[in-house]
Amino acid sequence: PRDELLFSYNGTLYPVTICSPETFRALESFESRSDDVILAGYPKSGTNWLSQILTDLINISEKKTQDGESGVNDEELEFPYLEVGDAKKYERMTKLRSPRFMVTHLCPENLPKSIFKNKVKILLLIRNPKDLATSFYHFSNGLSILPSYETWDDFFTDFMTKKVVWGSYFEYLSKWNNYADEENVMTITYEELKENPVVGVKNIAAFLGISVTEEELQLVVERSSFQSMKKNSQKTHGALGNVLFRKGAVSDWKNLFSEDQNEKMDKAFEEYVGGTKLGKKLKY
Ligand code: PPS
Repeated sequence: PRDELLFSYNGTLYPVTICSPETFRALESFESRSDDVILAGYPKSGTNWLSQILTDLINISEKKTQDGESGVNDEELEFPYLEVGDAKKYERMTKLRSPRFMVTHLCPENLPKSIFKNKVKILLLIRNPKDLATSFYHFSNGLSILPSYETWDDFFTDFMTKKVVWGSYFEYLSKWNNYADEENVMTITYEELKENPVVGVKNIAAFLGISVTEEELQLVVERSSFQSMKKNSQKTHGALGNVLFRKGAVSDWKNLFSEDQNEKMDKAFEEYVGGTKLGKKLKY
C-alpha cells in the first residue's frame, strides 16, 4: 500500500525505506568541501551511468597525483546518494578523503547551502521527460520499495501531478534552470552522452580539470557502456541490477504514450521550461 511506502517532506514524497526526515534535517548543516564533486540528476535520468563515469575519472586523476599508487577509495564505504541513508551519514563523511563524490536527486533549494557557498562542482544530468517517465514506470513496478502500478495510465497521472518520489520532474527542471549558467555547474543530457560518449566524457573530464589520455578515455567509455554495465550489474548492484539496467535507449516512450499523453507532456514541458536553457537542451 502506497501510504506505507512513502512519506512527505516539505511537500515532496520520498521512500520510507531509504530516506527519513531526520536525515533531511541533518543534511541542512552538511559541510561541503570546495573539491567535492556532485552529480545532480532526477531519478531515472541515468545517475548510475554517470556515477560510473565520474568515479572512473576521479580514480584516474587520483592515481596520477599519487604517483601511481592506487588503494581503496574510502568513499566506496559510503553510499554516494547524498540524501539516502541514516542521519549519522554526514558525520561519517567528514572522515572521507578528498575528492568526495556524491549523487543527489534533490532540487537545488533542498540541497545544503554550503554547496553553493563553496561553489562545489555540480554535473547536472537531465533526460527527455518522456523516456524518463517510461523508465520510472518500469522501475516502480520492479522495485518493492516503490508503489507498483496496475497500468501505465495510472503512473502517468501520478508523474504529472507530483505524486511520485522526489516530486515533479518539471519543477525540478525549472528550478535547476536557475543555476544552469553558474560557472560551477555543467549540464549534460542523457541523449547527447548516448549519441557521442567520447565527446561527453571528454567534456566532463575538462569540467573537472582531469586530464585523460586517449587510451584512458576509451577505457572509461567502454566501461560505462550500457552493455558492460548491464553485464557487471549482478556484481555491482546485486539483484537490483536487472531492474536498474533495463534498456538504456532513447525513444522507448513511443511504446507507452498515447497521443493524448504525448500532448499533455509537451504542454507541461512548454509551460515549465519552454524557451529556457535546459528546455532547449532537451530537444526530443
Ligand atoms: S536511479 O534508480 O534513479 O538511480 O536510476 P538511474 O541510474 O538514474 O537511471 C536508470 C536509467 O539509466 C539507464 N542506464 C544507462 N543508459 C545508457 N548507458 C548506460 N551505461 C546506462 N546505465 C543505466 C537505465 O537503463 C535506466 O533507463 P531505462 O530507460 O529504464 O533503461
